[in-house]
Amino acid sequence: MKRLLIVVVCGVCVASLLGVAAAQFARTEDAVRYRQSTMFLIGQHFGRIGEVVQGRKDFEPAAVAKNADLVATFARLPWDAFMVPGSDSGTQMRGAALSDSDGFKAAAANSEKETAKLAEVAAAGNLDAIRAQFGVVGQSCKACHDKYRGR
Ligand code: HEC
Repeated sequence: MKRLLIVVVCGVCVASLLGVAAAQFARTEDAVRYRQSTMFLIGQHFGRIGEVVQGRKDFEPAAVAKNADLVATFARLPWDAFMVPGSDSGTQMRGAALSDSDGFKAAAANSEKETAKLAEVAAAGNLDAIRAQFGVVGQSCKACHDKYRGR
């Protein structure tokens, strides 16, 4: 009897853990808000680096390194929030992100990798190298947007 109880209790624990993993977001709107907020922040901080590499703002190595670090951190966050069924409706995400989730995840992984590299390059403080890697990251954003973003 005691043993049966333990088995039942453990079963309940496992089931609730799986539930948490499957539903990271209580509501679909939360997932949409999460990913749009993260993308907004990525855009803001990536844009600040853009102003420097395009010569519109003075190069302050510490500021660029901080922005690059933030972009790399944010780029690790939002991808699961794109994979919620039905979350494309009424947003800029195309349904293709869900139907071609492998392609989406590959584009996400690539952008995440390149933003991490940008943070490394920015920490070293060489503007030419930062400019080059900024371009690589920009391509990784565009590659995903071209396929999976738009109305
Ligand atoms: C793997 C795909 C993917 C990658 C990589 C990606 N994005 Fe996005 N991004 C999207 C999608 C899809 C949306 C639309 C989301 C929505 O409407 O729910 C979006 C939306 C945005 C938005 C609008 C946010 C808002 O206010 O709603 C900005 C800004 C943005 N992305 C910037 C970037 C930048 C900068 C990068 C690269 C550093 C990047 N994205 C990389 C898929 C991606």
